[in-house]
Order: sequence, then C-alpha cells, then structure tokens
Amino acid sequence: MGLVPESTLEEILSRVDIVELISGYIPLKRAGRGYKALCPFHHEKTPSFTVNPDKQIFHCFGCSAGGNAFGFLMQHERLEFPEAIEALAKRTGVIIHEASPSERKTQNLSEQLYKINECASDFYFNQLHSPEGEPALKYLLKRGIAKETIQRFKIGYAQDKWDGLLNYLRGKGFVLGLIEKSGLIIPKDKGGYYDRFRKRILIPISDSKGRAVAFGARVLDNSLPKYINSPETPVYSKSKVLFGLNLSNEEIRLKDLAVIVEGYFDLIFPYQAGVKNITASCGTALTQEQIRLLKRYSRNVVLVYDSDNAGQMATLRSIDTLIEEGMNVMAARLPEGHDPDSFARQFGPEGFQKLITEAKDIFDYKLDFLKSKYAPLTIPHKAQAASEMLSLISKFSNTVAKSAYIKKLAEELSLDENSLLLELKKTENQNNHIPHKEEKFTPPKASVNSNAPERMIVRLMLEEEELIEQIKEKLAPGDFQDKNISQIITKMFDLFCSGKKINTNSLVNHFTGSHLSKIILEISTSEWPAVSGTQRIIDDCVRRIKESKRKLKQQELCRQLKLAQGPGNELKLNDLLIEFHSLSREGA
Ligand code: CTP
Ligand code: MN
Repeated sequence: MGLVPESTLEEILSRVDIVELISGYIPLKRAGRGYKALCPFHHEKTPSFTVNPDKQIFHCFGCSAGGNAFGFLMQHERLEFPEAIEALAKRTGVIIHEASPSERKTQNLSEQLYKINECASDFYFNQLHSPEGEPALKYLLKRGIAKETIQRFKIGYAQDKWDGLLNYLRGKGFVLGLIEKSGLIIPKDKGGYYDRFRKRILIPISDSKGRAVAFGARVLDNSLPKYINSPETPVYSKSKVLFGLNLSNEEIRLKDLAVIVEGYFDLIFPYQAGVKNITASCGTALTQEQIRLLKRYSRNVVLVYDSDNAGQMATLRSIDTLIEEGMNVMAARLPEGHDPDSFARQFGPEGFQKLITEAKDIFDYKLDFLKSKYAPLTIPHKAQAASEMLSLISKFSNTVAKSAYIKKLAEELSLDENSLLLELKKTENQNNHIPHKEEKFTPPKASVNSNAPERMIVRLMLEEEELIEQIKEKLAPGDFQDKNISQIITKMFDLFCSGKKINTNSLVNHFTGSHLSKIILEISTSEWPAVSGTQRIIDDCVRRIKESKRKLKQQELCRQLKLAQGPGNELKLNDLLIEFHSLSREGA
C-alpha cells in the first residue's frame, strides 16, 4: 500500500468509534466520562486501561500503552501501520487511493519472494521425508526432535545436489532473476546458478506473521561451517527477525516473560519440552529492532546463553541494548559445557524451569563474570571491573535503581560509594556526547517536572485549539528547552498555519512510529492537578518557560566569559558583559 493521504486517515478516524472498536476485543466498563478495562497488553488485577471517547484514544496507566484506533489495532493485532489503515478502511468503508506503480513493484517483489521461500520450505520438508533424506531424519530423531516438532518448525533437508531446488523452483514457473533475489541460489562466475544449501538440515526462519523469509542450514557431521544462513534479501534482514517468535509470541505475552537463547536447536528442543515462551537471536547480539519486536509481548526477559566464554560475551553484548530499551533483564547461568538444548535434554522441562526461576539479576550476572575475569581483584583490576559495571549502571534511566546499584557495587568491591558516583557522572557525560544515542533517549522521569510548563502548554493547545493563536504570539518553538516538546510545538504551529485541524488524534498520526507520538499521548492523558483560570495558567507557563530560557542563556554567557578572560579578549569580554547585564534586567 502506498502513502495514504492525511485526509483519508482523518476520514477513517471520523467514522470509527474507538469505544466500539475496543469493546469488540475486551469488555469495557463505564467510568465517569470514559471507560475502563483490564489492560490487554499487560497482566493486571485492577483495571488501569482507559478509553477516552472524547479524544478517541486509549491509554494504560499501568504499562503506558496508548494510542488511537490505529494504534490499538497495531498493538492488539500486531499489525503494521499500513495494515491497520487497511483494516479500519475496510471496516468504515473508506476507499484508499491506489499505490503508485513503483510502490506496487516492490510490494510485488516481496510477495513473490514469500512465495519462493514457501515453495522452498515445502521442497526441503519433502526431501527430508524422501529416501535421500533418511540420514538427516535419523540425525534429527537422534537429537530427540520429535516428528511433530519437525512438522511444527517445518524442518527440512537439502540433498547433496547442485541444482535440486533450482530445478524445482523453475518447474514452478519462477524466473532465475527472481530466485536469485531470494538468496537460495548463487550465480556462477561462468554463468548459470547453483543451490546455496546442499547436504544440510534446513530450518526455515519466519517473520512475525509466520511467513518463511530465510533459512538456517546445519551440516550433519562435524564439518565446518556448522551453519550457513540465507543472506539479507528484500524480505529478510537478520537484525529485524527473532527466530521462533512467530510460534512463541502468545505464550510470551501470557507468561509476561521471554526466554532468549542463541541457537536454532537451543530453541527447538526446549520448545518441544514445553518451554513455549522462547525466542532465539541466532548467534548475534540482540539489536534494538529485535528488542522492540519482543517488547510488544513482554518487557521481561531471561537470557539463557551457552556457558562458554562466547556465550557469556554474547549475553553481555545484548544487555546494554536491552537495558537501553527499558527491558527488565535477568540471566541464567548454565552449568559448564551445556547449552540450552543439551541442558533441557538432560534436566527436562522441570530443570529448565528451575534454571529460569533462579535466573540472576543482570547486575549480579555481570559482576560475577567480571569478578572471575579479573581475579585476583587487585586495585587496578577492581577499577577496571568497576568501570565496566558503571557502563551498565549508566544505561538505567531510573535514578533510584542507579543509586541502589552504585551502593551495591561499592559494597561488593569494597570501594567508596562517592567515588563511584563521580565516575558514573563521567561515564554518563561521555555517553551524552555520542550524538546518535540521543535519538533513542527517552527523557528520564526526573525531567518531567522541569519541563512541566512546556508540557502544560502542549496540553492546553490540544485541549483548546483556540488557544494556539495567542500562544504562538507569545512563544516560539526555540523557547522550549525539551527537544521533543519543541518538535511537537513546531508541528502544531505548522498545522495551525496551514489551517489544519489539531487534536491529540491528528497529532499522533503525524508522528506515527516516532517516540513523539508516545509523548503526546502521555501529555494528553496524564493526570494534572485540577486548575482553573486558563489565562492565568498560560501566562504563568509562558513566564516560566522564558525564565528558564533566560537562565540557560546566562549560563552559556558565563561559560563564554570565563573563556574570554585571557589577555587580548577585552572587547569580546565587554560585549559579553553587556549582554549578560541586559539579560539580568530582562528577568527582573
Ligand atoms: N551460527 C551461525 N553460523 C555459524 C555458527 C553459529 O549462524 N557458523 C548461529 C546459529 O544460529 C547457531 C547459533 O549461532 O544456532 C549458536 O551457535 P553454536 O552454539 O555454535 O551452535 P548450536 O546452536 O549449539 O548448534 P548445534 O546444537 O546444532 O550444534
Ligand atoms: Mn547446541
């Protein structure tokens, strides 16, 4: 589907009633002007999920899920934005304009590639059950993989032939150029193609909708490489897919916990043994995209990686990204020589369950690891271990958690808490200088108060569109210190100038997929102290916003004044002083 014009989105939203939509999925109870329910996105005993019919939005005070009708469908049905548009368009009878030819072309390519992968997995599955596939089937059964499991994961086999799949797919009418794009065949130097996977067990990798998008292929013996995988293709990006998630997502949501392992069989065997809330990263550190995928189902994860050094390193590499994404992370420690697959085989589902229950907080896990890595703990070793721990601690956005961890670190390494705090500040300053981090950064709760007047202004404008004009006269986007708010304000002013309708819903649509939409929802649904006298509030907010801008400017001038205090800078110094004093007068 192509880019849908804003007017169509508005048309759809104007025809759908969010209360009716949501009550088709969960029972809603009246509460005041709105509705309440048990949140479908996290486990709870008392309802904190609210639906606001006036604003046509929903919000959960427990897990802070929220959005408009599109957002609800996206989260509940796990749809992408275009799919949600399509679903609601159908429901409301709104006709969406046709996609442009180039859009249709890529759409078409993906469709074809899904088909090819589907055909290929049929082919491999059948091969496994043919006479040639016998050794492979034996191998699987010997590893304890049941027939049912083979079926469920659609595990297959590629014969020891150069053109088995190639001929099969051509026979199905697919052209070579297209098959090549699937990564399943490789062009020869002298022309022609050959099968990428030969004499290997084939494990299809599916996207979140269960479509085969790639394959992992294992040898039957000890030869190397043990696995080869599909390359990146228009439908497969390794960093965006989690193996097995299409089968385990419901269970992850139900248990509100995801077990994360590394390998194909580390997932397949425990899954078969009953650990159904499990997904695998396939030998790489978890990426931000993968974590976001997972976050739709649960924020709690237990990492169960190999006990060897590579496994521990992989655990550690994933931790930072997980913490940055606000996940609650635990790690289980497997006994020497085990991986999740062999562990589940030897100790059964109960053993595995116990392992997960006994998983350690990620802080303890990393500290244990560092203590043995840097044993004996001489002073330089301690400092090194401390600095590696601090880099983890700095990833937490919760200040209370941070200070608790610092305290614990001080005790564990018998170091001084205050010096650790100082070092933490240093680490954090360094982190702040990495520009690309900024984007993923959600403002810590502490800043909510400091930017309260800024948020209040947004809230007021969302509530009463008529106020926008007067606020626009008094404040410019640049007056807002919070970069997110400033961006939101810019958009609101733009919309206002072009005569567009402005409310929470339309604004959220403008920022679909961006963290800003979440901030807008937070602002429009958070509880504010009851206040009266809109004009007084506006004046007060404007005054406070200008004041803090002035203060910031003064601080900056002070900094420049200090720098300019050397000889030869007298003129500059004078200018700065004049500016400084005029600013002070403004504030008086
Ligand atoms: N991997 C890979 N390519 C390799 C080696 C590993 O893609 N050459 C990925 C696979 O997803 C594999 C995971 O990394 O499942 C973990 O690798 P490893 O621990 O070496 O293999 P196992 O999963 O334990 O494989 P098996 O149990 O089949 O021996
Ligand atoms: Mn293994």
